[in-house]
Amino acid sequence: MEAGRTRLSDHLSQQLDADQSIHRDLGKLILDIATAVQEIAILTSQGALAGVLGNLASQNVQGETQKKLDVLSDEILIQTFRSGNLVAGIASEENDEPIANKNGGPFLCLFDPLDGSSNIDVNVSVGTIFSIQHAPKDRSPQLADYLQPGRKQIAAGYAVYGPSTMLVLSIGRGTHGFTLDASSGEFILTHPNIQIPADTSEFAINASNERFWEAPVARYISECKKGKTDVRSRDFNMRWIASMVADVHRILMRGGIFMYPKDTKDLSKPGRLRLMYEANPMSFVVEQAGGLGSTGRQRILDLKPESIHQRVPVVLGSRNEVERVEQYHREHDSTN
Ligand code: AHG
Ligand code: MN
Ligand code: MN
Repeated sequence: MEAGRTRLSDHLSQQLDADQSIHRDLGKLILDIATAVQEIAILTSQGALAGVLGNLASQNVQGETQKKLDVLSDEILIQTFRSGNLVAGIASEENDEPIANKNGGPFLCLFDPLDGSSNIDVNVSVGTIFSIQHAPKDRSPQLADYLQPGRKQIAAGYAVYGPSTMLVLSIGRGTHGFTLDASSGEFILTHPNIQIPADTSEFAINASNERFWEAPVARYISECKKGKTDVRSRDFNMRWIASMVADVHRILMRGGIFMYPKDTKDLSKPGRLRLMYEANPMSFVVEQAGGLGSTGRQRILDLKPESIHQRVPVVLGSRNEVERVEQYHREHDSTN
């Protein structure tokens, strides 16, 4: 290894040595995920050449048409976990029910194998999100074992397949970013101790849903758009990549607020994003970097999960902006 270059494996050893209360096998599991992520990175980078673009005829449990890359990424991760004895059970966006691993293991892994699917065919950044929890000891996991509040995650992170492939993760000791060095096949620590600035002038929201928003969200975005001419006294910029991973990655790199709030577009859905494998792991990584993750009314990591594919409103990123959005919800709810 070149001097000054910290590999993911070295970083994990250092972190686990520093905190003996963390299960040693967590490092092995994260290295397995990193290997799977490299396989997915190769497929995404080959795109049309590997024949991985486009839709399948199938739908997932949420009624969404599956992309080839959704299913291929899911298979890579499932195969990784099933061939080892670290993960006793798996829950994925692409599978109706959790899958038990006959080899057992000390962990449960919940994941979104390919986030931002609508961007696959247009060569825009996509990602993989994962959440790791403790598995029950001495028995096979049941559905209820997966439904732990997000604050109990022992690790969480994401890979972003962008101009470079990065892995960003936290085992509860800060949030750290690694860049894949394709020539050596190693993830190298390039972004230690990521800190999200508390203030920001950048927001991310799908503004085409504006007429379906609740009043506090409409108020917040309207004030951002009015900028210096109104109460915020400064101008704001907007970004929307439509891959949560890429939008949240930008926020970890330079601050910002990401919102997929509650809306009235489809009253059967209290939000767009899924608690167990999108909102919880991303909130964990964001809070470990000094930011906040909220529904607008409650801290996401304190929600009591009700089902594997449950959807929740998501507001996360720079602390002062998320607190402002929460304040607007409180003011609204106390007068209505
Ligand atoms: P997925 O591709 O895993 O289903 O997730 C897509 C999510 C998220 O990545 C993104 O923030 C959001 O959907 C985009 O939604 P819009 O298409 O409404 O912009
Ligand atoms: Mn997703
Ligand atoms: Mn997905």
